[in-house]
Amino acid sequence: MINYKKLIEKAQNALQFSYSPYSNFKVGACVLTKSNKTYIGANIENASFGATICAERVAIDNAITSGDKDIVCIAIVSQSGDYTFPCGICRQVMAEFSNNLEIVVAKNQNDYKIYKLEELLPHSFLQKDIK
Ligand code: THU
Repeated sequence: MINYKKLIEKAQNALQFSYSPYSNFKVGACVLTKSNKTYIGANIENASFGATICAERVAIDNAITSGDKDIVCIAIVSQSGDYTFPCGICRQVMAEFSNNLEIVVAKNQNDYKIYKLEELLPHSFLQKDIK
């Protein structure tokens, strides 16, 4: 059983590491892997705006570069106090590493919604489609 509150708490903690001087919009994420480890991420912006990386991808890349590719859940929070859904690029990156990922969008530890990646990114383009 996944401890969603704990993941949300870790994502909230990651907000402090957000580097977002352009949007002033902090996002935090926390990935849970099959091995029961967690990896945090926060958005990192850049003066060349397109070089910005979202919190979700920072967290996922953190897991991958720790040799932990089996991601099972990701919690996402932002400073908005509202549900913050992953952008299209992040959904695509999620699809690369899990076909059954649970995505938790949280206002706080007591107010969150859980989605399957398949709901947020149906008919995704995957490695198997490259022929
Ligand atoms: N952002 C994320 O980190 N994750 C999301 O799900 C939505 C957007 C970041 C990117 C940028 O630094 C800021 O939020 C405004 O778009």
